[in-house]
Amino acid sequence: MGAADVLLRTAAPADMEKLFCWRNDPGIVALSGSQRPVSWQDHQTWFSKVLQNECHLLFVVMASGDEAGTVRFDRDGAGSSSATVTVYLMEGFRGRGIGTEAIERGCEKAFAAWPVLSGIKALIRQGNEPSIRAFRSAGFAVHAERQYAAGNTYAVRKRGVK
Ligand SMILES: CC(C)(COP(=O)(O)OP(=O)(O)OC[C@H]1O[C@@H](n2cnc3c(N)ncnc32)[C@H](O)[C@@H]1OP(=O)(O)O)[C@@H](O)C(=O)NCCC(=O)NCCS
Repeated sequence: MGAADVLLRTAAPADMEKLFCWRNDPGIVALSGSQRPVSWQDHQTWFSKVLQNECHLLFVVMASGDEAGTVRFDRDGAGSSSATVTVYLMEGFRGRGIGTEAIERGCEKAFAAWPVLSGIKALIRQGNEPSIRAFRSAGFAVHAERQYAAGNTYAVRKRGVK
């Protein structure tokens, strides 16, 4: 997949149901922090907050015109110099370079949107090799030995790295 074929579209209210289905896909639930599906009501509340609050950037990953997944940036508090990235693609879109491209493009957008941002963190489950490799290829330094939650690997990308 060429870089030009991957675009990020800012999520809109019409994406609420799609993001709910994606989030509750069994494969994604298994990778989530809580490892549990979310209720429609909780999702509605969360989704509205993310769209309205300036501490969040939510994108739909478009691959050759298809909706492939999502990438999100959550600032660690208003005015904070760091943010956390979350990314996932639905099955059928993985292993084709789309994730790496989506992370890179998302980071560019986050650094542009938040000028005081100095770094972006990712929490990766230990053993999630495609994710570790995608973040590394997108300019993240992966610190497998440094955990900030049990079983997770820490990765960080500094402003201006790529
Ligand atoms: C993690 C994810 C976003 C990566 O995106 P992707 O498009 O599949 O990854 P890419 O095709 O860009 O490949 C990234 C690297 O992983 C490697 N890779 C891809 N699939 C792999 C697999 N099944 N096993 C091992 N390595 C794999 C690629 O060869 C590439 O390595 P390189 O950069 O050293 O050449 C995607 O796989 C995904 O959504 N997975 C499920 C959800 C998830 O794990 N999210 C991340 C939570 S932290």
